[in-house]
Formats: sequence, structure tokens, C-alpha cells
Amino acid sequence: MSYETILVERRDRVALITLNRPKQLNALNVQMARDITDAAQKFDADETIGCIVVTGAAKAFAAGADIKEMTDLSYMDAHRLDWFHLWDRLADVRKPMIAAVSGYALGGGCELAMICDFIIAADTAKFGQPEVKLGVMPGIGGSQRLTRAVGKAKAMDMILTGRMMDAAEAERAGLVSRVVAPEKLLDEVFDAAKTIAAMSLPSTRMNKEAVNAAFETGLAQGVRFERRLFQATFAMRDQKEGMAAFVEKRPPSFSHD
Ligand code: HXC
Repeated sequence: MSYETILVERRDRVALITLNRPKQLNALNVQMARDITDAAQKFDADETIGCIVVTGAAKAFAAGADIKEMTDLSYMDAHRLDWFHLWDRLADVRKPMIAAVSGYALGGGCELAMICDFIIAADTAKFGQPEVKLGVMPGIGGSQRLTRAVGKAKAMDMILTGRMMDAAEAERAGLVSRVVAPEKLLDEVFDAAKTIAAMSLPSTRMNKEAVNAAFETGLAQGVRFERRLFQATFAMRDQKEGMAAFVEKRPPSFSHD
């Protein structure tokens, strides 16, 4: 697999997607949206991959959607563009995805990180939805995902003022799960990704689906959904293996089915 705007590599059961438009601070153009989505969908379909990591560069994870590409768009251009649909397809990836964020994650960059299942950040990370300063607004789910992640007060503050949040504030607010030194970022993320990829793949898919249901349904419906999935895990070989391994005091050997 080779792409114009991203680099891809795999390490055992972990796939890495690195945004690669460094001169533009990884500004997300349409080609990049196509490349990221295509790579993620291919890794999602590959049963030998258990977790996908998305990262950028030290200065910028991604400084937003490509403003230069958008400047002259008409309403009908924006309406016709498959841009939003591409990001929806990324959100539909069933395998766990981790964003490893260093430097700027602004606008579409912050939104891309939030489409991932969780964010691990370097202490240099800066998050923001500065679209209001350009006379526009978040368009890849930012107003919805940021609000669910950090609550109304902070989301309104960020989106209406366009200010940036540093990594410490983002961790306090619940936007990121861990903050580490920049030089440790990829090791930390790979450790987490390897841990996830070593679990039973159908189990991690179901766990992801259940947590996501918390964002999309009410409590009673979410709990019922969780219960059905929990019961379904008993149809998996990996449930038998995981529990047998515990009882026999040995590490499990999952067959991912
Ligand atoms: C296009 C961008 C860009 C962007 C940076 N660049 N961000 N190009 N789109 N979003 C380019 C600059 O034009 C410049 O190219 C080069 O990258 C380096 O950027 P500088 O501004 O010179 O770097 P610096 O002074 O360090 O400032 C970094 C920065 C700033 C604070 C991140 O670049 C910035 O504010 N960028 C825009 C952030 C933003 O508004 N993001 C939201 C975009 S709208 P040249 O060729 O001049 O050297 C959005 C909408 C999402 O994301 C929804 C869409 C559907």
C-alpha cells in the first residue's frame, strides 16, 4: 500500500498511519481524507491487524482542513464533495483506533483525533476548533464529539473563542486519555496498541461498539445493548480460551474467533 499524503506501516498486529504533508502542517486536503480512509478500511478488513494508530509530526498532528483548498468553494461544491462521507467511513471502522497527537491538532485535525477511539498526547499537544476565526464552524463532527468529550461549558468556550487547549487541560477535561513526554509518545502508543491487538479481535470490536453506544443511545437502551453483546461473547471460542487460560494460570492464546 502506498499513498500520496500518508505513510503506512505495520508492526506485527499494529498498523500505523502517519499523516505526511509536513510543509502544510498536515493540513487535511481531500486527497488526504481519501488516503486515510482507504488505508484504515484496508487495515480494518485485514484480520491480521488488531489495532490502528493514526499520528502526525512533532509540530503538528494536523493543523486543520486545508484552508487553501476550501477558500473558493461554493455552497454546491461543499454539498457535492465526498469529504464528509469519507470521514463517516473512517468513523465506521470497527477496529480500535488510537490517535497519537503531538503539536497542533486544530479544526479538522482535532476532529480526526476525536474520530479515533482515544487520544494519547505528547505534552506539546494543542487542541482547538478555531473555525469560528475563519467565519466557519467545525464540519467533521467537532461540535458534537468535543461536546460529548468535554461537556457543554468547555466545548462552547473552545468553539466560540477558537482558543487552544494545551495537553494538560485536555487531559483534565477528558479529551485525552494520557499525556507523555514527546520522545515517549510513539512507544507509549505502540505499547497500548500492542496490548489491544493481543486481545481477542471480536471482543475488542464488541467492546468498542458498546462504548460507542454510550454516545448514541440513552442509558437503558445502552445497557440492554451491552447485555446482548456480553451474552454474544459466549458464542466465541476466544471466551472459552480466555476463561480457561485464567483458570489454568497461563496466558491466553486467542484465535480471534
Ligand atoms: C492550509 C495550512 C493550514 C491549514 C497551516 N498551513 N495550517 N494550510 N490549511 N489549515 C500552512 C501555512 O499556510 C504555511 O504554509 C505552513 O502551513 C506553515 O504554517 P504557519 O502558519 O507558517 O506556521 P506557524 O506560524 O507555526 O502557525 C501554526 C498554526 C497556523 C498556529 C497552526 O498555521 C494556523 O493557525 N493554521 C490554521 C489553523 C486553523 O485555522 N485550522 C482550522 C482550519 S478549518 P506557507 O505556504 O504559507 O508556508 C477546518 C474546518 C474543518 O479545519 C471542517 C471541514 C469540513
